[in-house]
Amino acid sequence: MRVLLLTEPMSAAPFVAAISALAPELELVEYRSSLGAAELANIDTAVGWRMPHGLAARMPRLGWVCSIAAGVEKLLQSGLAPHVIVSRIVDPEQAAGIAQFVVTMVLRHARSLELYEAQQRQRSWRRQPTPLATHRVSVLGTGAMGGTIIEWLGRVGLRARGWNRHSAETLDETLAQSDVVVCALPLTEATEGILDARAFACMAPDSYLVNVARGAHVVEVDLIAAVRSGHLAGAALDVQGREPLPADDPLWSVPGITITPHIAAQSSTEVIAAQFVAALRALRRGEPVPNAIDRTRGY
Ligand code: OXD
Repeated sequence: MRVLLLTEPMSAAPFVAAISALAPELELVEYRSSLGAAELANIDTAVGWRMPHGLAARMPRLGWVCSIAAGVEKLLQSGLAPHVIVSRIVDPEQAAGIAQFVVTMVLRHARSLELYEAQQRQRSWRRQPTPLATHRVSVLGTGAMGGTIIEWLGRVGLRARGWNRHSAETLDETLAQSDVVVCALPLTEATEGILDARAFACMAPDSYLVNVARGAHVVEVDLIAAVRSGHLAGAALDVQGREPLPADDPLWSVPGITITPHIAAQSSTEVIAAQFVAALRALRRGEPVPNAIDRTRGY
């Protein structure tokens, strides 16, 4: 069986080592744009996070794509034939890592650490009232990530609850009743741009946004306007519409907006290799692939 590794810009070497240690019989092919028709014609499976446009059509035997990223939109948008199964790695440690990141950013905001960072830059030793943080946090998206985030926020005394498209409350009602909104949604046609000027107007005055999902969930010019106007206190964006975020992007310089370079958490190479090989064996036994995506839903 021939497996194409689509890990770039990350090196495929650690993935090759971890997968071949578990399944030495697999022929692992690292993607490069120079792969010719003969090499692509025999690819059965791909593992990675992004399929270059037009590539899927050049792999007539491709039957299964395993995403190493939690978000699968870069595979789904790549022109895969409808019969191709798409699944993903579900790494509990990644969900915990993202939850840690969210707790860090929510507490940093809730405990006014940005203010003290600014005071330190001015050598100003001034105490402010410091009540216990009991903020109401709404987590948009209640999948593996969202569920873990809610649990971890609860552990530090924050009042966290989830929202998804089946919730009794509308998104606008949820936004209006939150001190902090965390975006952990999958990126689909229905959720792209969901956090726009209208949504920001619904958010409570002085509330805060944390985005650990995809940059495209947020209409960034609208966010900048909402923060600059003082309606929102700010935002922590681990993901941006353009990654890497260009040095001249206006997001960098908005007071109250914190940018991190998509570091909330990644799946470990070992977990990816183990789950990929287990899924491959399930497929060979004629069983369903674990963690398959519903391609019509997009997650
Ligand atoms: C993601 C990931 O989907 O890093 O962002 O897994």
